[in-house]
Amino acid sequence: MKVLLTGGAGFIGSHTCVELIESGHEVAIVDNFSNSKPEVLNRIARITGKDPVFFEADVTDKSEMRYIFDNNNFDAVIHFAGFKAVGESVAKPLMYYRNNLDSTITLIEVMQEYGVNNVVFSSSATVYGESNKPPYNENMPTSTCTNPYGTTKLISEQIFTDATVANKDLSVVLLRYFNPIGANPSGLIGEDPAGIPNNLFPYVAKVAGGKLEKLGIFGNDYPTPDGTGIRDYIHVVDLAKGHVKALEYAVAHKGVEAINLGSGKGHSVFEVVQTFMKVNDVAVPYEIKPRRAGDLAESYANAEKAERLLGWKAELSLEDMCRDMWRWQTQNPNGYDTKNQ
Ligand code: UFG
Repeated sequence: MKVLLTGGAGFIGSHTCVELIESGHEVAIVDNFSNSKPEVLNRIARITGKDPVFFEADVTDKSEMRYIFDNNNFDAVIHFAGFKAVGESVAKPLMYYRNNLDSTITLIEVMQEYGVNNVVFSSSATVYGESNKPPYNENMPTSTCTNPYGTTKLISEQIFTDATVANKDLSVVLLRYFNPIGANPSGLIGEDPAGIPNNLFPYVAKVAGGKLEKLGIFGNDYPTPDGTGIRDYIHVVDLAKGHVKALEYAVAHKGVEAINLGSGKGHSVFEVVQTFMKVNDVAVPYEIKPRRAGDLAESYANAEKAERLLGWKAELSLEDMCRDMWRWQTQNPNGYDTKNQ
């Protein structure tokens, strides 16, 4: 299959690109490097032995998107492109709505113009909001999100759903990610957040590598067994393989389907920190800080639908995630910035 990945140079996009190439698919990437680096393309080529076709463009730019579709016959698209920092979205809501919604609408319009009817969308477990209780399943009603980033995912899901009602040829899989972490076992690609990381795992890796002094654990008074927040961490390679399955499902069906990609298991912040230290034999100094605004006590998936519809389930363990994250960090202490390693 010939597949376009919007935002394919990013963390999840690059890992999915590798898995697609290794499953025999042909991949093209469109990315504007707003939160990624050109070096990732060399790394993908080193892992797979193939250079993905690349277009530097903004998905919100319809004329650039038309140019890309004019010159390729895509069977399907995976739409990763979008801003994703929760805190930043609270400070810059209009930037998030403009970018994340405009890219979704522009993409669907251009797909329709060119008769491309299969799409997989990067959604998030955040659409379950605060009123549902984990384990989250896809039949639960989605609910209001605590931040504009989450709301853009919720609205994008609605846009895709409405477009599917109007266009019976369209096939959409909405993938609701839980907490993707880890890195390709080669240590060549991984998460490279700009500035100080917001998420737990990249922060832990930077503290272990001596780039940051101490991890702040946001709250130890949650109603969980050890008082720290519980999340469903999923290895990014498992997640990427889930996209290959979702794509194959989308091409064989019509209509819209929301599917969780999670492990179905919850791990606490303490458990993550202790596992990281033990598996990698490194210290991760930490201190307890107040709760972070908007955080839930626990979030984890009911992962049965993915297994039933896609024949996919997460296979890699928290230990694997910690080991691969550390390999990426030690081999690339400054991420893709190869000049300053
Ligand atoms: N945490 C800390 N210290 C940190 C960072 C995080 O203790 O420095 C804790 C959080 O309080 C939470 C857990 O680690 O309990 C995980 O936090 P992350 O920031 O790694 O992930 P979140 O679950 O908050 O956010 C993720 C995605 C979002 C998505 C959200 C809900 O990053 O994109 O899940 O699905 F919106």
